Amino acid sequence: MITNITDARDRIQEYALKGRLTPLFIQGDALDVLRRCSSGIFDFCMTSPPYWGKREYHNGGIGLEREYADYISNLLDIFAEVKRVLKESGSFWLNIGDSYADKHLVGVPWRLAIKMMDEQGWTLRNSIVWNKVKGGPDNTLDRLRNVHEDIFHFVKYPRGYYYNADAIRSTPKKTRVVNGSVVSATGVSGIRYKRQIEFTTALSDAEKADAMAALEEMLVSVTRGDVADFRMIIRGQQRTTHSDSERLSGRAKELKDKGFYFLKYHPNGSKPSDVWDILPEDTQKRNNHFAPYPEDLCKIPILATCPHDGLVLDPFCGTGTTMLVASQLGRRSVGIDLALEYLKIAERKCGTLL
Ligand SMILES: C[S@@+](CC[C@H](N)C(=O)[O-])C[C@H]1O[C@@H](n2cnc3c(N)ncnc32)[C@H](O)[C@@H]1O
Repeated sequence: MITNITDARDRIQEYALKGRLTPLFIQGDALDVLRRCSSGIFDFCMTSPPYWGKREYHNGGIGLEREYADYISNLLDIFAEVKRVLKESGSFWLNIGDSYADKHLVGVPWRLAIKMMDEQGWTLRNSIVWNKVKGGPDNTLDRLRNVHEDIFHFVKYPRGYYYNADAIRSTPKKTRVVNGSVVSATGVSGIRYKRQIEFTTALSDAEKADAMAALEEMLVSVTRGDVADFRMIIRGQQRTTHSDSERLSGRAKELKDKGFYFLKYHPNGSKPSDVWDILPEDTQKRNNHFAPYPEDLCKIPILATCPHDGLVLDPFCGTGTTMLVASQLGRRSVGIDLALEYLKIAERKCGTLL
């Protein structure tokens, strides 16, 4: 259902209370629509505004400003509203590309992110590098090809925001038993560590006994499935992964005092990193629209930071990718865009799903 701006407030309110899974689309300027929304109704927002100075969308809109500072200022006005309409537990994921002006890479994403933190009080939790792997054609002879974009994860408040890390963990590999010995997911059986403890001259006899007992205990935890995998760092044996300064690192202190420590892997699998390799959408397949983002880009954000009964917002929804993934993952959503043409595509895409 595409609605227009005049009854946006009532429609969003009504949808927030008892909307079905089918997304609600509103045609209008993001700032105008958001200004009409009540505060604190959305759980989650993910969006990708037009690039600055690169593309012309139907009906004009953001991105056509002559100066990048005006573009940033227009986005800041919209994001202040996004912050207001988000719940206290809310998250905002912003995908934004950079642009060149007169040979200078402008640094739009970080200029904007810093203002959001300093002027609007957002807390930045992650800066993700979206590696588009193949990128577009590039005929320049004096710089590298650009294949990444930024995705920022902001929260309204540094504590108490919704986050379900277990929803995004990769399936853990299983512990195996080989020749009667427990072997962890990545092949750690403890035999190498036992040898290192036995033969090292960097541990005293008492430290060796403690290290051996702790290792046995860790192998029992692996057998029970309490720990999926681990690494043992033994004084003088392994390269450390922390600062050597005891002032900075508790681990450095543990290594000095006890002679060893463990790095444990979560039994439910590991979390994704902040570099995502995701191929861009094939624009040939989509009518009229120049910059849809891939569905995979929205999955981790929605699963991790939107509760199952939560309400999703995308103020520049274009062809509705955020809304489509929200529905696939069982979340209701509201999408705003200036262009009716894109909203019609979005509606077709999402409507066929149900
Ligand atoms: C990069 S596209 C979003 C693509 C979207 N993520 C998708 O997957 O299809 C940016 C969208 O912002 C819309 N837009 C530009 N200015 C706007 C404004 N002031 N208010 C609402 N939408 C606007 C454009 O029409 C365009 O669809």
